[in-house]
Amino acid sequence: MAGNTFGNLFKISTFGESHGKAIGGVIDGCPSGITLDLAAIQKDLDRRKPGQSAIVTQRKENDEVEFFSGIFEGKSTGTPIGFAIHNTNQKSKDYGHIKDSYRPSHADYVYDQKYGFRDYRGGGRSSARETASRVVAGAIAKQFLAGIEINAFVSQVGELQLTKNYTELDLSLTESNPVRCPDPDTAAKMEAYIKSIKKEGDTIGGIITCVAKNVPVGLGEPVFDKLHAELGKAMLSINAVKGFEYGSGFDGVKMKGSDHNDPFNPDGSTKTNHSGGIQGGISNGMDIYFNVAFKPVATVIQAYETIDKEGNPVSTQGKGRHDPCVVPRAVPIVEAMTALVLADYMLLNRTVKR
Ligand SMILES: Cc1cc2nc3c(=O)[nH]c(=O)nc-3n(C[C@H](O)[C@H](O)[C@H](O)COP(=O)(O)O)c2cc1C
Repeated sequence: MAGNTFGNLFKISTFGESHGKAIGGVIDGCPSGITLDLAAIQKDLDRRKPGQSAIVTQRKENDEVEFFSGIFEGKSTGTPIGFAIHNTNQKSKDYGHIKDSYRPSHADYVYDQKYGFRDYRGGGRSSARETASRVVAGAIAKQFLAGIEINAFVSQVGELQLTKNYTELDLSLTESNPVRCPDPDTAAKMEAYIKSIKKEGDTIGGIITCVAKNVPVGLGEPVFDKLHAELGKAMLSINAVKGFEYGSGFDGVKMKGSDHNDPFNPDGSTKTNHSGGIQGGISNGMDIYFNVAFKPVATVIQAYETIDKEGNPVSTQGKGRHDPCVVPRAVPIVEAMTALVLADYMLLNRTVKR
């Protein structure tokens, strides 16, 4: 299986399956001498972990990260940072019913077809459990990026969406509710809606908006490694992501160029920011903002029809402890992938002669 490493200079390789002994990774290319706050890393993991509220999966994983290398006396040494998170709460029997059949719209069918067989327990490598390792690496990247602020939040659940944009919201309120939506009234509606979806044994999708502030001018490597292209790849590599748009995104098509253009101030900043902080694939110093769309995930706790390995029709029943809506737990994952891209592109930018 290829494709388990992300990044050019600041790189993360992850390993592990949902119900194996552990998941983890190796971070290669983290510069030396970065003071690392291990409690801040654990805090981001806690924001992703299962069982944190009534609207997420009730699996009870502690998700405590153990570091093996690359950190000495509280600082990165510049050598590979190896780490693991032990899997402690697997209930593999919950997945017996999918051993020989495929959950529609999950990764079961394609893994079997591509690799010949699969670790079906908890979805194996296709499980979003893998993203805990990205959160560890991203939390380290955030500390390398000190001064750059990265804030993600839930801006839509099903049809319920924020009417204010990020500049009108108090992003310090994101963590004040289990949905991670910075508008408390909308958050309460979203929470009630997710609870009703959970009661039906169903799932619902949502959107996460992410904002990166204080990004210097110059990050991005045209032509194929444009900053927004790398952010798009990073976001679309997260489980259940179906869409990515930055700046004016899809709504921009409704505007005329004369309205869409961002007029300059004398210092090079712009009066508006439809460009989303990136022009020609290079950061322009304005806020970088983008939306990431997550689908309603596949595992419904309802009766459903599918096929077995031989293509025979099968009637089965979804079981186990699943997320009715993944966006509250995906907020730290989006931040982590953003930090990994920016850290990597910050290092790539050091290869430019000034
Ligand atoms: C935080 C998070 C939690 C997830 N939990 C579930 C889950 O409980 N049940 C499920 O079917 N999919 C879940 N997913 C999504 C699957 O991992 C994903 O849909 C699957 O691997 C197929 O990949 P795709 O949807 O990207 O095509 C979760 C995704 C994220 C980001």
